[in-house]
This record gives sequence, structure tokens and C-alpha cells, in this order.
Amino acid sequence: MSARQVDLRRVVYALSDALDLVGINDLHHGKRVGIMAAEIAQTLGWTKERQALAFDAGLLHDIGVSSTDLHRKLVEDFDWRGAIGHAEFGAHLLGGFAPLAYLAPVVHDHHTHWLELKQVDGEVANMANLIFLTDRADVLAASAMASDTLLASAPKIRDKLCSCAGPLFNPELVDGFLRASRKESFWLGLEPNAVRDYMVAKAGEPGLVSADLTTLLGIARLFSRVVDAKSHFTVEHSEGVARLVRFLGESFGLDADTCGKLEVAGYLHDIGKLRIPDSLLEKPGPLSDDERRLMASHAYETYRILAQIPGFEDISRWAAYHHEIPDGEGYPFHLEAAELSQECRLLRGADIFQALAQDRPYRARLPAAAILEHLRKLRDGGKLDRAIFATFEANLPYLYALAQPSRGDDNGVTAT
Ligand SMILES: [Fe+2]
Ligand SMILES: [Fe+2]
Ligand SMILES: [Fe+2]
Repeated sequence: MSARQVDLRRVVYALSDALDLVGINDLHHGKRVGIMAAEIAQTLGWTKERQALAFDAGLLHDIGVSSTDLHRKLVEDFDWRGAIGHAEFGAHLLGGFAPLAYLAPVVHDHHTHWLELKQVDGEVANMANLIFLTDRADVLAASAMASDTLLASAPKIRDKLCSCAGPLFNPELVDGFLRASRKESFWLGLEPNAVRDYMVAKAGEPGLVSADLTTLLGIARLFSRVVDAKSHFTVEHSEGVARLVRFLGESFGLDADTCGKLEVAGYLHDIGKLRIPDSLLEKPGPLSDDERRLMASHAYETYRILAQIPGFEDISRWAAYHHEIPDGEGYPFHLEAAELSQECRLLRGADIFQALAQDRPYRARLPAAAILEHLRKLRDGGKLDRAIFATFEANLPYLYALAQPSRGDDNGVTAT
């Protein structure tokens, strides 16, 4: 299927799944916030468009959170003043991608107290405050769900939010929340199976928004920044991989559509890393067997997220197979050589090259000549195609420069 037939909404839903992975064991935070916000918006009699906006904003409000440590702080502290950093970073990311830029002002203020929103446009202020309210409701609901006491805890959650009406939350929104959350269905709709059903129904709604390759590249780049911001070691890793794999695709004479899809796969290949705890990505020494198994799960998560998107059949495989080795010793699928297409092999080559050209917690970045030696050993051991090695060898200085972070203006912004 051509990338031109991809529904942008389905891409957003799938990638919001990746954001929800940062909760590690609590997987549906963004979706629950979106569902509650849409339901309260409906209770308040807001237009269908505003209800849809409330849902989208809920889904993506934590796009600035890729760190599991940061996520923990946001959950543990009901009104953490450090929360503004991820709201600003999220708004910055969304503001840079035109099709989703309308969400940026809402995301920017989704932890701002109601009393501090006086200067903000009324519609934006109300939407941002609705997301703040439902976000905090979900933090309380998630902990009640974890102890299987959701319905029993509902009155306490309602009291807590009610006590914040005025300074933190717009009293009119709190009133809408109290009316909507009187129903058991409001709370039961937050349980994992209900959330899954809700999303399936949403995905099936008519109104396909066709995305061209340029739009797909834009959204893939946006989410690559979320992933790469997770650790300062991986700044622009995915962008570097995307640049390298496009070069390789063009060098191998692949057509423009395939090269574009390869670039998308490069941006998104590590999206499953959002579920990996920060401590593992930052560990200065070798990983234990258990840690290695956990780290290996990121490629599977990448597959699970991308394979949901109709039109991403190729992209999901190319992206998720980037740790598969032709000798069958890779992970997580242990594919054999015959199952690995040229595109998968190119992406794997680009991933290895970029990673070696960048500092890691356990080693400094390698000079170009040392990278080539490393790749030569892989080639001699049957773990890297001869033709891919030859392309790296023939273009070494150029590809080494291409692999480096650009240190552009966006890179100075971090989530913490
Ligand atoms: Fe949140
Ligand atoms: Fe990876
Ligand atoms: Fe990677």
C-alpha cells in the first residue's frame, strides 16, 4: 500500500499508544484523559468540534514526557511545580508540526492553575484547564484501579477535585466533572478493556484524513524527537538513522516512495523505547541478562505500535527488525536471512552506524575509522551485507558527518 493512503488519525492514535508506554505498567493514561475530557465536554454542552479537540488534547497532552522518572514525579505529586517543563516541551514539539499545531497552546497550559490563566484566551484556557482536571482525575483513578478500588474511590476523587475548584480548576469545569462522574459508567469506562473498545470504535469512525508522504515524515520526525529526548545520549539518534537510511536507500537505487518510507521507519524504529526505564538507558556498565531482555522488548513494542496502522505494513517491519541479524541471532523475532528484506538490512546498518558515532553511557563515540573496523568485523562474520559495508566504506566521511546530531535550535530543549 502506498504511504499516500495512510489515515493521519490512525497514525496519531497509534503513536499516542507509544506515549502511554512511558507509564510502564499503567498504559492508558493519555487515552483515559482524552475519554474523560470528551465526556465532560459533552456534559457541558460543548460543540462536537470542541469535544473532539478535548479528546485529541487528552490523547497527546503528555507528548513532552518520555522519561519514566519524570512520569513518576507527575504521578506522585498532585500539583508539582516542576510540571511546566514537559508542558512547554510538548507545546514546542506540537507547534513545529502544522497538522497538530492547534493543540500546542492547550498542551502548554495543561498544568497551569486556573487563577494563573487570566491572560490566556478563554477557549484555550478552558480546554487546557479541562485537561489539567482530567489529568489529575486520572492520576487518582489509576492508583485506585491498581488496587482494584475504582468505584469505591470515586467519591474521594470527586471530593479532592472539588476542593481544588477556584485556584486550580475552573469551578464550571469542576461542576461538569461532578455531573459526568456521578455515573458509574464514567469510571468503568476507564478500565483497560473499555478503553480498548473505545479506541477501536474511534478508529472505525468515518472521515479518513489522507496523509501524504511529507505529512508522514513530519509526524514521524515529531515522535522521533519524543523518543530521542528520553536520554541525552540519544539526542537525534533517530533523526541520524533516518538521514543515513535515506542515503543508503538512494545509493541502492530504491524508488522515491520506498526511500521516503525508509526514512519514516528510521525516525520511528526506537519508538518502543518509551517503555524502557530511564535507568536502563543511562546505565554506565553492561546490562544483566534480565535488563538485556527488557531492553530487547523495545523492538517488539515498535512493531506492536506501528503494525496497527493500515498502510504501515512495510514501515512496521523495517522499523521493528532493526536488531534482527541474518544469522538468526538477532531479536525479538530471531528471523533468518531469507526473511530480512533489503530495506530491513539497510535500516539495521544505519542504526549500528549512528549508534557507534554517538556517545553511550558505557563508551565514548568512536571515530569514523574505528566504526568502519567494527562494521568490517560484522561483515566478515556474516552479520552485515557486503554491499552495505562497501557503501559505508566508499562514503565514510560524509556518512560520519550525516550521523552527527545537528545541534540545531530544537536540541537545546529538554523535557526535564
Ligand atoms: Fe498527564
Ligand atoms: Fe533499537
Ligand atoms: Fe536505534
